[in-house]
Amino acid sequence: MTRHVIGWEQEAPVPDHEFNDYLSSRDGRLYMEDLDLAGLFKGDGNESGLDRALPSPLEIVYLPIIRRQIERMRKLFDEVIDEIGYGGRFHFAYASKANAAEEVIRTTLSAGAHHEMSSTADVDIAMLMIERNLLPPDRLIVCNGFKPEGTAYAKNILRLKQRHDNVLPIVEDLGEFSPLISSGLRFDVGLRQKSYGKNDDEDEMDTHNSRFGLDTEAIWQASEFISNSPTLNLRAYHAMVGSQILSESDFVDWLRPPMEVYARLRREHPTLNIFDFGGGVPVPMTLDFNFDYRKFVHLLLSTLQETCADYGVPDPDVMGEFGRYTTSEHGAHLFKIVAVKENGSDLPWYLIDGSIMTSFPDSWALGEHFIVLPLNNLDKPFRQVQLGGMTCDSDDVYPPKPSKSALYLPSESDDLYIGFFSIGAYQEMLGGVRGSKHCVLPEAYELIIDRSENGDYSFELIVGQTPEDVLRNLGYLRT
Ligand SMILES: Cc1ncc(COP(=O)(O)O)c(C=O)c1O
Repeated sequence: MTRHVIGWEQEAPVPDHEFNDYLSSRDGRLYMEDLDLAGLFKGDGNESGLDRALPSPLEIVYLPIIRRQIERMRKLFDEVIDEIGYGGRFHFAYASKANAAEEVIRTTLSAGAHHEMSSTADVDIAMLMIERNLLPPDRLIVCNGFKPEGTAYAKNILRLKQRHDNVLPIVEDLGEFSPLISSGLRFDVGLRQKSYGKNDDEDEMDTHNSRFGLDTEAIWQASEFISNSPTLNLRAYHAMVGSQILSESDFVDWLRPPMEVYARLRREHPTLNIFDFGGGVPVPMTLDFNFDYRKFVHLLLSTLQETCADYGVPDPDVMGEFGRYTTSEHGAHLFKIVAVKENGSDLPWYLIDGSIMTSFPDSWALGEHFIVLPLNNLDKPFRQVQLGGMTCDSDDVYPPKPSKSALYLPSESDDLYIGFFSIGAYQEMLGGVRGSKHCVLPEAYELIIDRSENGDYSFELIVGQTPEDVLRNLGYLRT
C-alpha cells in the first residue's frame, strides 16, 4: 500500500477519501471540514455563504481548528489526571511566537488559554487584549525571552504587572532579577533550566550548546537569591527540551532530569507549584504523523507523579506552552498552477502564482515538509511533478531540495489549484506580514474563516498588497 507523506503519492485518482481529520476529498474536490476550497475561486462555494470569487493566491485562516486543538488537549489532560489520580491541574498556555496575528490571539484567549510571550511588542499586544476584556485577571501571562535590566521588554513587563497582577516572568539569566527587584513590586517568578536537547542525566543538560536558560549551578544561585528576596516567590520551573518531538517516550525521558531538579527545588520553595515543559508538542505537518497524544500525557503525568513521590513533594500543576500544536493546522495557503514547463528537467515543473520560499521559509531553510494537495481534479490521474515559485530563486521549489518525498498532482493542469496545509505556525511570522518580499511579490489576500456552533460560516477578507503598496514600502512612493 502506498504511504502518503506530503500528499497523494500515486498516479491513481483519489477516491472519496479522508486525508486527516480536517481535509477530505469528495467528487474530485478538496474540502477543509465542509468548505469546498476550489469553490472559493469560482464563487460557487455558495453553500458556505460566500458569494464572490476570490483571487489567487489566497491565505486561509481557519479559526475553529485553533479552538478544537485547545479543547482536545485540555480534555486529554483532564481525563488522564482523573485516571491516574494525579494531584495537580493542567494549564494550557498559547506560545504567541508561533503566530501573533490578532485573530489568532483573540481566538486562543477566548478559548480560555493562558498567554505566553517573548518580546516587548508582545506586552503591548497583551495590554490591548486586557483593554478588550479578552485577557481576564485569572489568566496567567508567562514572560519568556531575554529581559535584562535596561531593555524595553524588562520595562514593559513592569508596566504590565501594574495592570495585570497574574504575570509570571520566567528568568533565563541571573541578570534578569535586578529590574524585578528594583521595581519594589511583588512578583511570582519562574526559573528556566538550560535543558534544550536530549537529556540522559542532569549533567548532560549543562553541556548543551544552548543560549536558553540557567545551568544547574545558576539554578541553585537563583533559588537562594529568591529565598532571600522579600518580594520574589518561586512559582514555576521551566524546562523545554525541543520542538516537534515525534517520540512520546523520548519527550518524557528528556524531561526526567528536569523533573528531579523540580522536586528538589520544591523542597526549598513551598510556593513552587508549576512544572512548565514549554513547547515541543508536535502536530501533523505531513500525512504520516502518528504521535499518540494520550500516551504522551499519560507518560508525562505518571513520571512526574513517581518522581515527586520519590522526593516526598506534592504533584505540581503542569503547564505546556503550545505554539505549533495550536496554530499549524488552522493555516493554509492556496495557489493556482499558472504554467507547466517540461524542459528536460527530471520532472515537469508546475509553476504557482506565488512564492514557496517566502511563504514557507522553513521549507527552504530547514527542508521542512508541509502537506500539498490539489483542490480540484482529484478524480483525475496524477503524475509526479515538482513545484516552482514565481521568484527567480533556484531554492523556490517544493519538495525542498534535500527531500526524499515525491509530490504528485493531477496531470490535468488547466485551471488547477493547490493548497499548502499545516503552515499556520511560524511561517508567516518568519516570512513577515505586509513587508517587501523576495522578487517584490505582493502579499496575498487573506480569508479569515470562523464557524458558529450551528455550523454557519462567517468570513472576513483582508485585501492583499497592490504593486503600489510594495513600491511605497520600498520608498519609491512617498505619499
Ligand atoms: C520558551 C518557548 N515556549 C514555547 C515555544 C513553542 O514551541 P512549540 O512551537 O514547539 O510548541 C517556544 C518555541 O520556540 C519557546 O521558545
